[in-house]
Amino acid sequence: MTDATVYIAQSLDGYIADAEGSIAWLRPFEVWDYGYDAFWARIDAVVMGSTTYRDCRRFPEWPYRGKAVFVMTRSGRLDEDGLAVFDDRSAVEIALDLERAGLGRIWVAGGGRPIRAFLDAGLVRRLRIFQIPVLLGAGTPLWVAGKRRLSARPIATTVHGNGVVETHWEIVAPAGTADDSPWTRV
Ligand SMILES: NC(=O)c1ccc[n+]([C@@H]2O[C@H](COP(=O)([O-])OP(=O)(O)OC[C@H]3O[C@@H](n4cnc5c(N)ncnc54)[C@H](OP(=O)(O)O)[C@@H]3O)[C@@H](O)[C@H]2O)c1
Repeated sequence: MTDATVYIAQSLDGYIADAEGSIAWLRPFEVWDYGYDAFWARIDAVVMGSTTYRDCRRFPEWPYRGKAVFVMTRSGRLDEDGLAVFDDRSAVEIALDLERAGLGRIWVAGGGRPIRAFLDAGLVRRLRIFQIPVLLGAGTPLWVAGKRRLSARPIATTVHGNGVVETHWEIVAPAGTADDSPWTRV
């Protein structure tokens, strides 16, 4: 069964990158143990959009080594070095393939459109949102318009000593979910 988690940091006003597309404002908050290693150990695969992929390629080291990485893109293959698979299929098709390969525990790493595609497909079970105590005023929004209304139940909130507020949410299957919907199928 697909078990997708959104694990992401957003500014207090809801942005994941600033107006220049940079995530440098996150750096002062990275030197803190949020339990990432335990999270990383329990996921099988990472799905992201092509902008996030391109940004990650600028890091000194590929941060997702050892896990299957799928890049959602309609622009065709971007690189040939085997670090990621470039995929123009839907969230449901990608998730079904991963599930068949025994890689059902997916981290939907961002940005907003892949996350929304997985939410709309009913594939996300959990949100783990790190609210960074910074108001950027402008930038790339985490939350983009989608097709589906969902409910969430708060599981736990931690106020870290550096001011980051981490909240775990469980997505609650909407009432009246049809038996043939992705929610029950995948
Ligand atoms: N704060 C954080 O924790 C965090 C986490 C992740 C990313 N980020 C940052 O946030 C920014 C993300 O930017 P973004 O949200 O604009 O980019 P993104 O989601 O990473 O990439 C957007 C692009 O991916 C492709 N794509 C997205 N959804 C798709 C879908 N459903 N099907 C097919 N293709 C799809 C499209 O491009 P093509 O079809 O042209 O390829 C789209 O323009 C980056 O700056 C990144 O570094 C921050």
